[in-house]
Amino acid sequence: MRPIAELIQDHGPAKMALRVLEKICEKIDNGEEVNKEEADQVVYFIREFVDKCHHGKEEGQLFAVIKRNSNIRDNGLVDDLIKEHESGRGFVKNMADALKAGDMEKFKRNSLDYVKLLDQHIFKENTVLFPMAERALNNEEQKELEEGFLQIEREVIGKELHDKLHNLIHELRESYS
Ligand SMILES: [Fe+2]
Ligand SMILES: [Fe+2]
Repeated sequence: MRPIAELIQDHGPAKMALRVLEKICEKIDNGEEVNKEEADQVVYFIREFVDKCHHGKEEGQLFAVIKRNSNIRDNGLVDDLIKEHESGRGFVKNMADALKAGDMEKFKRNSLDYVKLLDQHIFKENTVLFPMAERALNNEEQKELEEGFLQIEREVIGKELHDKLHNLIHELRESYS
């Protein structure tokens, strides 16, 4: 698969996690009992897949290639996207801390902030950055990304954990549909 298409594909399960978070927040709002283990699992999925694997591919590979390609004038877009990954990590840490402390209001606040941040972040990547990169990167750079992504999938995540994470988010999405 072409590397940019792979990043777009990764956004699918990432968005599933956002939709599950919204449903959990709805339950908190309605005063319903929340399954803490499932909330923990969403946080785990976000840390392992969305952040380590997907943001790893973006920060460690794609953004680096874009930054050194003199044909691309990204006008600070990549720096903004990196800052958004960082704010996202802050929200996710607060979500994990809130779950540990049983503070569901804090979990909800940080989850909703995270959902809002990541929805617009994914939209910007899919509609602005990725099409720009697809046009500007030459075959050599595409190949470099393909190999870099493969290495992350293999060494950072591994097939077993990758499959486990995807099954997990599909199951959660099903039970919170
Ligand atoms: Fe990103
Ligand atoms: Fe992304």
